[in-house]
Amino acid sequence: MAAEDGTAQLSLGVLETAADGLRWNEWYRAAEKRHSIRTFLPDQPEEVLLRGLRKLAERLPASAGRVEVISRLDVDIFTGIVGGYGKVGPSPSAMLFVEESTGGWGPSGIGYAGEAVVLEATRLGLGTCWVGGFFDPVLAAGLLELRDGERIAAVSPLGIPAARRSLGERTLKAMARSHKRKTVGELTPEGIENWPDWARAAVDLARLAPSAVNRQPWRFSMESGAGCERLVVRLDEPKDTYRIPKRLDCGIAMAHVEVAARAAGKQGYWERRTGQDVAAFVAD
Ligand SMILES: Cc1cc2nc3c(=O)[nH]c(=O)nc-3n(C[C@H](O)[C@H](O)[C@H](O)COP(=O)(O)O)c2cc1C
Repeated sequence: MAAEDGTAQLSLGVLETAADGLRWNEWYRAAEKRHSIRTFLPDQPEEVLLRGLRKLAERLPASAGRVEVISRLDVDIFTGIVGGYGKVGPSPSAMLFVEESTGGWGPSGIGYAGEAVVLEATRLGLGTCWVGGFFDPVLAAGLLELRDGERIAAVSPLGIPAARRSLGERTLKAMARSHKRKTVGELTPEGIENWPDWARAAVDLARLAPSAVNRQPWRFSMESGAGCERLVVRLDEPKDTYRIPKRLDCGIAMAHVEVAARAAGKQGYWERRTGQDVAAFVAD
């Protein structure tokens, strides 16, 4: 894929050009039902599904970073919190989320691109879990060739969810209070009166996005003017926690915003912002 200028706009619209077409409603439903999965059947997912994920990943904008789909995970890249406690997997396959830090969108880009592939995996019935801190970066780097300016920001197991979750997984979910989400009111401090329907739907879906320790560091506001509406994604506060950039979580939320907007028939693109603002979805 052609390299792009780091300030280039991001859009999932590139996926619509595929002959098989992308059904935004199906991704909307995938985003609604997705939850992190940490326990898997030993069987590898069908190669045709993995190939589909790989093809989708290849069509994502290069400035967002890249997502590598590993069909057969022969090494254990998941480390767990202490002494293997809270460990993810074992998992037959995996995804590696590679951040493009020189000229690209950095953490927000890989959050955005990675979540697009996560939603497709969910649609296909596969389980995933973003893992930002508790993986072995050296072992993970051995699974692909890293180019200059790239780093593995996060990884995910990939496989068929087991019917019964391990005790470790159940404990971890309870600790992270994984199903709890902030209210729309908390996420939109300036209120959502007079917001168009697509933007309300976008915030509803962004609320369900995964984030490190479920911290949900995203806030939303609307700007209008110059003949278009913009939905701005902002950090709750500039300081990062747990040594995982909050901009990565916000990139994940950006993917949810755009899926909801497109499912509501709204096209648009992301414009990069600096400071506490992460990006703005400029609706056409
Ligand atoms: C960037 C990032 C890093 C994460 N790191 C871990 C991790 O190291 N271990 C883990 O078990 N879950 C991890 N998670 C999963 C979150 O705990 C989970 O997404 C959150 O609790 C919400 O739950 P849900 O995904 O089931 O909706 C991570 C999620 C994100 C987005």
